[in-house]
Amino acid sequence: MSRTIRVGIVGGGGIARHYHLPSYARFKEVQIVAAADVSQAALQALKEDHGLESLYEDYREMLDREELDLISVCTSNDMHHPVVMAAIERGLHIYCEKPLALTHAEAQEMTEAAEAAGIRTGVNFSHRRTPASRLAQEIIASGALGAIHYASAIYAAGGIAYGQRPGTWRNVREKAGFGGLGDMGSHVLDMMMWWLDCGVEAVAAELGTIVPRRIDGDSGETMQVTTEDQGTLLLRYGNAIMGVLYGGYVFTGRGYDQRAEIYGRDGGLMYDQQRPYELSVYLPKEHLQRYHVLREGGARDTPYTRILVPERHLGLIPGDPGARRTVLMDFIDAYLRADDTGEPFTFSPGFREGLAVQEVLEATRRATLAHSWISLPL
Ligand SMILES: NC(=O)c1ccc[n+]([C@@H]2O[C@H](COP(=O)([O-])OP(=O)(O)OC[C@H]3O[C@@H](n4cnc5c(N)ncnc54)[C@H](O)[C@@H]3O)[C@@H](O)[C@H]2O)c1
Repeated sequence: MSRTIRVGIVGGGGIARHYHLPSYARFKEVQIVAAADVSQAALQALKEDHGLESLYEDYREMLDREELDLISVCTSNDMHHPVVMAAIERGLHIYCEKPLALTHAEAQEMTEAAEAAGIRTGVNFSHRRTPASRLAQEIIASGALGAIHYASAIYAAGGIAYGQRPGTWRNVREKAGFGGLGDMGSHVLDMMMWWLDCGVEAVAAELGTIVPRRIDGDSGETMQVTTEDQGTLLLRYGNAIMGVLYGGYVFTGRGYDQRAEIYGRDGGLMYDQQRPYELSVYLPKEHLQRYHVLREGGARDTPYTRILVPERHLGLIPGDPGARRTVLMDFIDAYLRADDTGEPFTFSPGFREGLAVQEVLEATRRATLAHSWISLPL
């Protein structure tokens, strides 16, 4: 039988409370032992809404005092590196939010140190659990599309009128590293490298800040925006695949818009996160017959066939209608499996995958400054 996994949370904001804590709560083997946050309001919410008792203002004190196995790093991006390095020093396993770090150098140091110390790592590229994304990965890996030649991906946030949003740490380069491209685009960068099963070989890019000053949501003061609102990349992936990718915050009124299109010699597919249980595809017959067709293609207004995501990709949680698994739950499964079997821990996306994304982000910054293509590895 597995022992208890004793977890500490660092950073008790939105993602910790709405994603990490509910994911851990699914496991009888996981005990949330303590949490740390510099904000009293966050600590109060962790106490009142989640019943946590051992709360710290300084995460280092928590790491020193509590007996932990694993930490969740849920702070603003500037603290990922120091928290992760402190955890590695203490031999703790780590599930870290994306993007992995502020810079490529930080991400490299974190990855190498974790690997050298035998630390189990996960990075929360949470959209790897979207059912249609899993089906897209399966179809591409099956070879059904033939040799791929093109991949485009967008991830944009755009609820209320863009210019009127209050400023947050996401608009400050020292806290976030990157803005819309790093925050949103990092998800689809990871998704494309996972789907295509290759890295990026070269990047050309344009980063843009559209609203240079905002009203700080905390202080009410005017603040300078120092991260990009949006970024567009031209990419050359491995295997000579051409790509286009966009990450940004500025699709006013569009909501969370995550779409991707992949074309190969024998077929193509179109993914839209707003329709998470289906894909539009053009597939050779022998591949298409594996899937349940929702609507035949070939018509003028629907050239592509719409297929249903098979149940194996839904990640349904038995006994809880509608509830779906998360990438963090997959990480805990891998953790328990390694404990139970004594076999090496294997999980993706870990720090290696986080580092690959960070390297492309770094290349993007260099490409923007140089107005030219940048080759990878850097
Ligand atoms: N995977 C996803 O889909 C997803 C979604 C949202 C956010 N995120 C990531 O999660 C992280 C947090 O984002 P959020 O939306 O929860 O932000 P947030 O602002 O709601 O929460 C961040 C928390 O970190 C705390 N913090 C800052 N410095 C700290 C320190 N030194 N020690 C302890 N706590 C500290 C803040 O006080 C705050 O409570 C970011 O890296 C973000 O990119 C990922």
